Amino acid sequence: MKFTHEWIEKNPWLLIGLVLVVVSFGGLVEIVPLFFQKSTTEPVAGLKPYSPLRLAGRDIYIREGCYNCHSQMIRPFRAETERYGHYSVAGEFVYDRPFQWGSKRTGPDLARVGGRYSDEWHRTHLDNPRDVVPESNMPGYPWLAKTKLVPAEIVPKMRALQFMNVPYTDQEIKDAPAQLEDKTEQDALVAYLQGLGTQIKTRN
Ligand code: HEC
Repeated sequence: MKFTHEWIEKNPWLLIGLVLVVVSFGGLVEIVPLFFQKSTTEPVAGLKPYSPLRLAGRDIYIREGCYNCHSQMIRPFRAETERYGHYSVAGEFVYDRPFQWGSKRTGPDLARVGGRYSDEWHRTHLDNPRDVVPESNMPGYPWLAKTKLVPAEIVPKMRALQFMNVPYTDQEIKDAPAQLEDKTEQDALVAYLQGLGTQIKTRN
């Protein structure tokens, strides 16, 4: 039997196999360099790992499924940058594991919501969005203000991130639970939201 092109095309399984090899090679050539490029692996200037309170808030954001309606990635298009601010860059997310980019936007993108509203606004909005935005269809999360954080839970979370190369010191991890004493889940979530996207200054 001769190994000709015709022979490959007449053997569907062989053809599928070879197509997969070619396509995955193309994928690798595109993806692998990203692991080594500074623009995707180095934090942007001024980016700090999440404080214990913000880290706890981030976990509540994930637990409550906020990402089902909110993306956290501003695309480099004029319609987006005029509305939300500077487009997102990879270096802003190096301490996000997992990142919350998403693409579902029932509500607005939150990548740069930090500092846009007061803490008080966020609290009212989280208790009942319609108190500040009458036409809102976002659900309320009134239990967050009534639920205290469990301070000890932050330790294994920070340890896991430290293992993943987030530069927390052992001392910071040791001191973390004390900073969460008496804080509510709402305090944590508001702190998280207020820090989003603030490393790159986008508005005057
Ligand atoms: C069912 C979809 C839905 C879910 C789930 C949801 N939101 Fe929203 N969100 C919206 C919509 C729609 C708006 C726009 C109206 C408004 O401001 O309430 C909004 C607005 C916001 C805003 C104001 C953004 C801006 O730029 O004005 C913030 C902050 C926010 N949501 C945070 C959250 C957080 C935190 C959670 C999870 C606890 C969450 N959302 C869950 C739909 C949702």
